[in-house]
Amino acid sequence: MKRLKVMTVFGTRPEAIKMAPIVMELAKYPQYIQPVTTVTAQHREMLDQVLSLFNITPNYDLDIMAPGQNLFDITHRAMQGLHQVMEKEQPDLVLVHGDTTTTFAGALTAFYHQIPVGHVEAGLRTGNKYSPYPEEMNRKLTGSLTDFHFAPTISSRANLNREGIDSANIYVTGNTVIDALLATLNQPYNFSETGLANVRFDESRVILVTTHRRENLGEPMRHVYQALKSIVEIYSDVEVVFPVHKNPLVRNIVQQELGNLARVHLIDPLEYQPFVNVLARSYLILTDSGGIQEEAPSLGKPVLVLRDTTERPEAIEAGTVKLIGTSRQDVFDHTCLLLNNKMEYEKMANACNPYGDGKAAGRIITAILNRLGYIPDSPQDFVCPKK
Ligand code: UD1
Ligand code: UDP
Repeated sequence: MKRLKVMTVFGTRPEAIKMAPIVMELAKYPQYIQPVTTVTAQHREMLDQVLSLFNITPNYDLDIMAPGQNLFDITHRAMQGLHQVMEKEQPDLVLVHGDTTTTFAGALTAFYHQIPVGHVEAGLRTGNKYSPYPEEMNRKLTGSLTDFHFAPTISSRANLNREGIDSANIYVTGNTVIDALLATLNQPYNFSETGLANVRFDESRVILVTTHRRENLGEPMRHVYQALKSIVEIYSDVEVVFPVHKNPLVRNIVQQELGNLARVHLIDPLEYQPFVNVLARSYLILTDSGGIQEEAPSLGKPVLVLRDTTERPEAIEAGTVKLIGTSRQDVFDHTCLLLNNKMEYEKMANACNPYGDGKAAGRIITAILNRLGYIPDSPQDFVCPKK
């Protein structure tokens, strides 16, 4: 039987983290699969950190990132590069992940080449075209171009069903981020080797902060940072660890509002292994990240989400995540509540795994091989464990 040529396409840090388990799983079946790993490098340093941790050497690196890139730049540079790679390689299947502009460009380019598309992390929706922007439309448009939908949870499958997608083409797999998280936390790690050695994890309560969403750039971010500043001034046992995204639009405001403050550690984006170890040792997380909302519940860490909408209702239902928006007062009040009230804190600090069991990549590759006639059995759906 001819080997199946499976091309993975990704470009940003979170896509790389979530596709790494898939790249590794594809490599386990050399008798059936010829993998072609293609990165757009929509991110550069933040992507390279992940590639090196997981020992991934791409077959193609389009190196598209440019300072101050806009959505048009990313879309057209990614499509131009991907068109050439797909034309040359003629893959049998293209796998894209999630909701970035690389994702949509990858799916659209595959469609133009009439190559089937598999969408990993399919079916997340807020129902709001502009929130998150442009991710909600990226994932919806990608869904319309997709042949095999790998939905992390039953609620993401239900979103796809509502859009008329047949369950026969949807697999509930869990999220591959939990594969990556569990594998990474399994490795020994020592903080003394990093710039985090001076963070007093044992004596202080560490608030871990990340922000990057386009709809939060400008005033919303400024308000969040002002709230954080007041919190650090009031609580002498609180330290903030803030790995600041490489986007200069984020970095400028962070520096203006939080630069040179005692007990606020403004650092460069962390590699994934130190990052998840900080996550595991933090008291509380404030973030507008999607992936962190999925990781933190596994570690029993409360998350306050700095957004007005979320496509990840599972952790809210489980009680470990609260959607608080970006107003200065709300951020201040919700954070203070968790710092002041042990019962409120304990209510949120439940370890649970609504997003996966660490076996998502295995299910996805099994589904592909079964669907394309290489193996007899299809995977069992991921079932969220009962609390
Ligand atoms: C992108 C994705 C977003 C995802 C996020 C993860 C789109 C439109 N946005 O947003 O869905 O949640 O990645 O972090 O696809 N930069 C660097 N080095 C890097 C990475 C970024 O310098 O390694 C700078 C560049 O100046 C770039 C800017 O950050 O212009 C913004 O990057 P971009 O990929 O356009 O948007 P993100 O906000 O990172
Ligand atoms: N992350 C990381 N280093 C950091 C901050 C985040 O490795 O300094 C990881 C985090 O564990 C998660 C992913 O990056 O898996 C989330 O990326 P981001 O918040 O940029 O994107 P999103 O998930 O919102 O698309």
